Amino acid sequence: MALLQLPSHQHSRRPLAVSFHLVVPILRLLPFTTTTTATTVQTSVPSPSSPLNARIPNIGPQAPKQAWCPSEIFCNGELLQTINIAQLYSDSKTFVDKPTRLPSNRTLDDFYGIVGVGPSPNPNVTYGELVNFVDADFQGEGLELIPLSQQNTTPSFLSPLRIPDPLVLGWSGVVHSYWGALVRGTDPSKLCTGGAAGCESTLIPLNHTFVVPGGRFREQYYWDSYWIVEGLLQSEHYSIVNSTLQNFMDELEMIGFIPNGGRKYYLNRSQPPMFMKMLWAYVNATGDVWILNRAIPLAEVELAWWEKNRTISVRSPYTRKTWDVARYAVVNSAPRPEGFLQDYLAANGPDLVVPYNESQKADLYAELASGAESGHDYSSRWIQQPLLGNTTNTTPALRTLNVRKTIPVDLNSALYKYRLLLADLYDLRKNAGAADHQRACHHRHIASNLKQAILDLFWDPKKLAFYDFNMTSNARGTVFTPAAFWPFWNGIIPKEVLESEDKAKEAFGSVRLVLSRYNGTFPASFLVNGLQWDAPNAWPPHQFIIFEALKSLPKSITSKPLTPLSANVSSFSLIPKGQLGFTESELPLQPLDRGGYASGDINEVAVARGGGTNGTTVVNGGNATTKEDWASALSRELANRYISSVFCSWYSTGGSIPGLLDQLPPQELNATNSIGSMGHMFEKTSMFDIDVAGGGGEYTVQVGFGWTNGVGMSRFTPVRLIAQYPLTPPLLASAFTSARPRSSGDGWVRARPQSGSNVEEREVCNCN
Ligand SMILES: *[C@@H]1O[C@H](CO)[C@@H](O)[C@H](O)[C@H]1NC(C)=O
Ligand SMILES: *[C@@H]1O[C@H](CO)[C@@H](O)[C@H](O)[C@H]1NC(C)=O
Ligand SMILES: *[C@@H]1O[C@H](CO)[C@@H](O)[C@H](O)[C@H]1NC(C)=O
Ligand SMILES: *[C@@H]1O[C@H](CO)[C@@H](O)[C@H](O)[C@H]1NC(C)=O
Ligand SMILES: *[C@@H]1O[C@H](CO)[C@@H](O)[C@H](O)[C@H]1NC(C)=O
Ligand SMILES: *[C@@H]1O[C@H](CO)[C@@H](O)[C@H](O)[C@H]1NC(C)=O
Ligand SMILES: *[C@@H]1O[C@H](CO)[C@@H](O)[C@H](O)[C@H]1NC(C)=O
Ligand SMILES: *[C@@H]1O[C@H](CO)[C@@H](O)[C@H](O)[C@H]1NC(C)=O
Ligand SMILES: *[C@@H]1O[C@H](CO)[C@@H](O)[C@H](O)[C@H]1NC(C)=O
Ligand SMILES: *[C@@H]1O[C@H](CO)[C@@H](O)[C@H](O)[C@H]1NC(C)=O
Ligand SMILES: *[C@@H]1O[C@H](CO)[C@@H](O)[C@H](O)[C@H]1NC(C)=O
Ligand SMILES: *[C@@H]1O[C@H](CO)[C@@H](O)[C@H](O)[C@H]1NC(C)=O
Repeated sequence: MALLQLPSHQHSRRPLAVSFHLVVPILRLLPFTTTTTATTVQTSVPSPSSPLNARIPNIGPQAPKQAWCPSEIFCNGELLQTINIAQLYSDSKTFVDKPTRLPSNRTLDDFYGIVGVGPSPNPNVTYGELVNFVDADFQGEGLELIPLSQQNTTPSFLSPLRIPDPLVLGWSGVVHSYWGALVRGTDPSKLCTGGAAGCESTLIPLNHTFVVPGGRFREQYYWDSYWIVEGLLQSEHYSIVNSTLQNFMDELEMIGFIPNGGRKYYLNRSQPPMFMKMLWAYVNATGDVWILNRAIPLAEVELAWWEKNRTISVRSPYTRKTWDVARYAVVNSAPRPEGFLQDYLAANGPDLVVPYNESQKADLYAELASGAESGHDYSSRWIQQPLLGNTTNTTPALRTLNVRKTIPVDLNSALYKYRLLLADLYDLRKNAGAADHQRACHHRHIASNLKQAILDLFWDPKKLAFYDFNMTSNARGTVFTPAAFWPFWNGIIPKEVLESEDKAKEAFGSVRLVLSRYNGTFPASFLVNGLQWDAPNAWPPHQFIIFEALKSLPKSITSKPLTPLSANVSSFSLIPKGQLGFTESELPLQPLDRGGYASGDINEVAVARGGGTNGTTVVNGGNATTKEDWASALSRELANRYISSVFCSWYSTGGSIPGLLDQLPPQELNATNSIGSMGHMFEKTSMFDIDVAGGGGEYTVQVGFGWTNGVGMSRFTPVRLIAQYPLTPPLLASAFTSARPRSSGDGWVRARPQSGSNVEEREVCNCN
């Protein structure tokens, strides 16, 4: 039996490797009480794109009804289409999250009373009439979900022993407290009971407490929850993790798979399958093995769904072997209700020279939904012509989505690990019997095949990187993204890397390049095209995965230091030819503070480390330590960059810490439009800068934010001697700051310790 390899650790928690049937598991579940707090539900005011007395436009051809989404109000149909074409709300998701006030048929009667029924609808409907209808017949979005207060806890990681830097420690305490703003429960008194008496809503009511990502993501989400769970465990909110898992298990029981999020309009798609990792992390942290009796059979349900609904056979052009691999492939032929307008315009846009026929539209709708299922909506990874259109008009590029013919390396790596973890849980189950051991064996067997498939289809032994497999070209793709690190994270290390430390370094060469050449964190790709999951955006889960991938490398290939770059050797030249899919001159350029762009490794500095050896570090990368190997150096730098990014974005939008760090003065907050704000945790960051939130894409940048908090707390701030106070070079000239007052003559912004506190003045990042 292959037990999971656990990292050695000195903390008090019991690792899974200790057989649970030999010890009485010590439950660490803290008493956890929730009480409802009075709260105001946010209700967006309709802000149509035209004056209220203007007539609404013709709504155009309607997309077909979807069997899985029968609602005549919230799923495809005349009502949803009319509200969206009239653009009553800037985000299509707002309307579909508003429960009706009246039963469905009365709501529909009211609607048809305005627009008329049948072949000759009323041509005179105005925006004002539509606004009045929505105001009268619909309630506040997300009304059934209520914030739950929680007990204050002081988890053990919030200690100077774990986080030596006082400011990072204080800030971690603030981030820990943010869970309080994201904990939700369903308010049974607000639920729509349906039928003649009730109202109608898209909510899938969940019976247990959960944590939402934040912003427009007001429900429980699937893959977000993994990073939320990792953070909650660090925060010792064990009970919320249990209840999060209970919700997912309820969904598996009721629906047969875990939908993208807790709304009915997500019922045709899932998201990257992270349930097993959440379960495993929870059991490992708490010793609660009783949950396994329910969880294991439901994990089987989930795996069976991926097998039946998302698996396809692919014959390798490299070995001629045939593999069963998974892909994102949603059955769908209509706009996503929560992204209706964007999807509708992509398929029906007036800019189309030749209008799409029904089957072309259906294909595009399936592609758009499949992209959303991947969690990476949208990215050049999935797009045949990612540079069609421009950075503000990405619709032409989206029309060439090719998600269903892309076999994703990250998805298959996740399913590989899923099976191994499940096999271990079978073996560890109390009273595991022969049947359990047989299931464990079955999963290990499939995992072993999948590993061969991953190495065959996705690994390029010359470029030393993993890529998605493109079924259209019947070859590995060329777009390098953080998906390349998922196999390493999940324990798949190709033999070229295992056999050569130099090649191992080259496989992670892009990490050094990003840290040396750019000021922010690792981007979603190296192509700037206006999409959310492309450069310059950098996402918290990716930083976590790269960090974990570096940590997963064996000692045998991580013995050497990161040696300083010499004058004629750039970080780019250390990467195998073709790995990034771009020449050095094609890479995005790092903007400079006083205008212009840099190229080359502007941020890397050589440092003497004692003992006659030198190492390197990067700006906002923390200090190199004696005897630090290259993988530890890169993970330290990445952790520090991440903390710098998230901290500075928060500080520059009004963040402060009582007794430690004063809020920026109003004239500075004004520059970021943040007067009155208390500091935001953004859903994404940037490769270029540590104090801007990423932009682009589907919707306005969200704040909250579940996975941002979770990634920071679970991996980065608690690493002893890693996290230290961010420092950056002088103020930058970004578009909105050119006229901003500088805080001090040299351009450095300094923290303002509160009077009376004995914290010494220190340099702070210039969060502009
Ligand atoms: C629409 O408005 C026009 C002009 O105001 C009017 O003649 C016509 O009867 C109206 N149509 C309907 C269906 O109300
Ligand atoms: C709505 O439907 C219910 C039965 O589902 C029926 O009793 C009621 O009369 C209907 N109301 C209207 C306004 O059609
Ligand atoms: C986890 O939640 C379930 C459902 O509420 C509950 O029955 C169980 O006791 C909880 N487990 C622990 C260890 O608290
Ligand atoms: C929540 O509990 C109710 C009452 O027991 C049950 O009918 C419902 O199916 C549960 N919801 C889920 C998602 O399991
Ligand atoms: C999964 O496949 C089954 C059988 O083909 C189908 O009925 C079901 O709709 C599929 N579910 C999803 C969410 O695609
Ligand atoms: C299991 O828990 C131990 C102790 O907290 C921790 O060091 C280890 O990283 C955990 N393992 C996983 C895979 O989460
Ligand atoms: C896949 O291959 C096709 C055919 O060569 C190509 O047009 C496309 O850009 C490739 N990439 C994707 C993501 O489809
Ligand atoms: C992008 O394309 C749109 C539509 O073709 C055009 O209106 C807009 O000016 C372009 N923007 C840029 C920055 O090129
Ligand atoms: C990036 O860092 C370099 C050097 O550390 C600095 O000169 C430049 O102004 C920074 N640019 C931005 C946009 O942060
Ligand atoms: C280490 O770096 C310093 C400058 O930072 C340099 O003077 C010294 O020669 C270097 N030592 C070695 C062993 O490379
Ligand atoms: C890191 O290095 C800087 C500059 O060399 C030094 O001022 C600082 O004290 C060091 N921090 C730690 C935690 O050693
Ligand atoms: C914020 O900036 C705007 C535009 O520059 C200015 O009109 C306003 O007075 C400023 N407000 C404060 C509080 O500084």
